Amino acid sequence: MKIAVYPGSFDPVTNGHVDIVERASKIFDLVYVAIIANPEKDAYFDIKEREEMLKSAIRHIRKAKVESFDGLLVDYAERKKAHAIVRGLRAVSDFDYEFQMALTNLRMCPKIETIFIMTDYKYSYLSSSLVKQIAFLGGSVSGLVPRVVLKKLRKRGT
Ligand code: PNS
Repeated sequence: MKIAVYPGSFDPVTNGHVDIVERASKIFDLVYVAIIANPEKDAYFDIKEREEMLKSAIRHIRKAKVESFDGLLVDYAERKKAHAIVRGLRAVSDFDYEFQMALTNLRMCPKIETIFIMTDYKYSYLSSSLVKQIAFLGGSVSGLVPRVVLKKLRKRGT
């Protein structure tokens, strides 16, 4: 059974994230979509909200499971007996950060590889921060995020 962990802040989940989970679950038997409970940057949505939105957004993906984690990613991945960490890669601008993270994780835990999935061109510009910024300024994020996120952003009065 090949297991992967797809970690992130998911603040909130976007259609780009959902696309990565769909594609990762074609490669792996089980994908843990792992939300970091206490991200470095302050989260707009609390962990419970992020978890609820993510669960609803990937409900259709049978091989994916939403969880949250704290502490080191590699420790969580080891507990889950994961073979790989999956990350989505958008533009070149993602590369430095992802490169540093992948190599640091590999140094700490050489048996877990980081695998990158190229984000679909439809979502190559998309990020959770951009979604929040557009929503806060009254723009439409329809088509960029799952329906559950749209509803949540509207409810918050953004
Ligand atoms: O969606 P993000 O914010 O780019 O995800 C970043 C995340 C959660 C994958 C990263 O911050 C992380 O793995 N944090 C856990 C702490 C850790 O293991 N740090 C060392 C990695 S170099």
